[in-house]
This record gives sequence, structure tokens and C-alpha cells, in this order.
Amino acid sequence: MEKRVVALTGDRPTGRLHLGHWVGSLKNRVEMQSAFDQYIMIADVQALTDYFENPQKVMDNVLEVTADYLAVGIDPELSTIFIQSQIPSLSELTTYYMNLVTVSRLERNPTVKAEIAQKAFGESIPCGFFCYPVSQAADITAFKTEVVPVGDDQLPMIELSNEIVRRFNKVYNTDCLKVARAKPGAIGRLVGIDGKAKASKSLGNAIFLSDSPEVIREKVYSMYTDPNHIRVSDPGKVEGNVVFSYLDAFYEDKDELAALKTHYSSGGLGDIVLKSLLDTVLQSRIQPIREKRENLSRKYLLEICLQGSQKAKSVAQKTLQEVKEAIGINFSPLKF
Ligand code: TRP
Repeated sequence: MEKRVVALTGDRPTGRLHLGHWVGSLKNRVEMQSAFDQYIMIADVQALTDYFENPQKVMDNVLEVTADYLAVGIDPELSTIFIQSQIPSLSELTTYYMNLVTVSRLERNPTVKAEIAQKAFGESIPCGFFCYPVSQAADITAFKTEVVPVGDDQLPMIELSNEIVRRFNKVYNTDCLKVARAKPGAIGRLVGIDGKAKASKSLGNAIFLSDSPEVIREKVYSMYTDPNHIRVSDPGKVEGNVVFSYLDAFYEDKDELAALKTHYSSGGLGDIVLKSLLDTVLQSRIQPIREKRENLSRKYLLEICLQGSQKAKSVAQKTLQEVKEAIGINFSPLKF
């Protein structure tokens, strides 16, 4: 079989996936899986850096996330879905990489910096949390990943991983680790239904792939539009109007959408008409996903995860061997 470029992404299993994930990564993964050797990691170890006091929440969501993957069309024959905690080599690689990163370098990581501020750790930053970018470098390098299709907030992680790779290869005079690149342009971003920041589970402003028709409808009808669009005859704003952002992302008739935007901006088009259209569009998008999801047994989902983990385990193990070999940790009897 021809050798394909390895792509790897991951999700922390802290909740079910939503339309923001669909726009930001799932859609892209479905497109990539036939052209790349694609690994999709359920990052339960990384999730525990945040939820170590509530491991049940992480465990409960591993299969939920897997169900979301399969329901949107990620095909376990084409993509390797695996669970991070089942790959012990990742922890070993992390240990060796820790030597190659300084504390001040980790402190400068903008994503970690923002998370530290947001979590209000003060002086008590857990070491595991602080070092998760090093463990992410292990995730990326273990599979000889070349492409990491992630959003902007993850770019500092790829940068750090590449620094570790260069440092490792130089210090141990090897080329066993590969640098990786992001996949620019592939990643979209979806606003929350409240118009704030991005759709996210923790902000409670997302529409989930598993939401019922009633909940979807309720969320669509509560969407932020243009607060100054009071009477139907008033001209309305398209920019910053969440209903239009969602139509941009999910409504396929682009000519009709352009006409609706013109109509809305000049006045005479009510929010309710638009919301009803969006509701129809989203219902028909989500219905097959929800139905497929409901038909997946936990037994089957677990099987997929364990099969994927088996494969991932042997690939990562091989890289770990090369890494130990490069460092010179080789206690094979043949050497003595
Ligand atoms: N940090 C990523 C997130 O929060 C998840 C993740 C863990 C990841 N390891 C990875 C993404 C490796 C890409 C590559 O979404």
C-alpha cells in the first residue's frame, strides 16, 4: 500500500460534540480521511489535567465523543480512533521531552497563559496542567505526524512540538522525529448562539449533534440577531447576526442566501422568517446524525476505540524504541 501522510488531531472528552466542532474540525476530518493516514485521539489524559477530581465525567464522554465521530461520517476503516490513556508510550515520550523544554518556555505559551488566567490558579498551577503541551508534543511525534489540522489556539502547541523535535534530533544526533505543520485555511469557526466568542460547551451557547428537534428549535429561536431590528420594515444588520452566520455555515443555496441578506439589510424581512429557515436547515442536517448516533451500541463503540488503540499502541511503541535508541537507553543483552 502507498505510504500516506500522517495527520493527527484530538479532542478532550469533556462533553458531547456540537456544531462548532463540526465547522471547526469534524467536517475537515471526514474530508481528509480518504487521502491521509488519519489518527484521531480521544485525549482523556489531557482532559484529566483539568478534571482530575472528576474522572467520571471524562470517562463518560469517551464513548459519547466516539459516537459523534461515527455519526458524522468518520469511518473507522479509514481513520484510527484511539484513547490516549491506552497508549503508555505517550507518557514515556513525554518524560524524555521534558528535559528539552524550559519552564520559561512553557510560561510563554499563549494558549496556556490564557488558560491559567481563566482558571485563576494563582500560585498553584498543577504541574500536569502546566506541562500538557509537552505531552501534546508526544502525541504529535509518536505517530510521525506531518499535518495537524487544528484551529489557531493550537498553533503554539505545534510550534512547541517542533522545537522539541529539532532539539531532540540535534542533541541526540538523529532524524527519528518529524516536524509537523498546521493545516491553514481548513479550519472554520462558529459563533455561539448568543453571538459571543465561539460556540462552546462551557459557555452553554452551542447546538449539539445529539440535540433533540425541540432543543434545536428552541436554540435557533433564541439566537442573537440585530437588537435594533425591531419592526419587520426596519433595515437589519447582517454583520454579527448569528442567524446569518449559521446560514453561511449550513445553508447550501448561496444565491438565495445572498438575496436574503440584501432583503434583510434594506428592511422588510422578519427575524422569524430567517429563524424558521435556519431551523429547517439545521433539523435536516442534524436529524441523520442524531439517528445514526442513537443506533450505535456502546459495545460497538468500545470495540472501535480498542481496535484503534491497539494499532496506535504499536505505532507509538515503535517511535519510543527509536527515541530510546537515539538517547542510548538500550539494555538489550546483545549490547553487553
Ligand atoms: N489540545 C487539543 C484540544 O484541546 C487536544 C489535543 C491533544 C490535540 N493532543 C493533541 C490536538 C494532538 C492535536 C494534536 O483541542
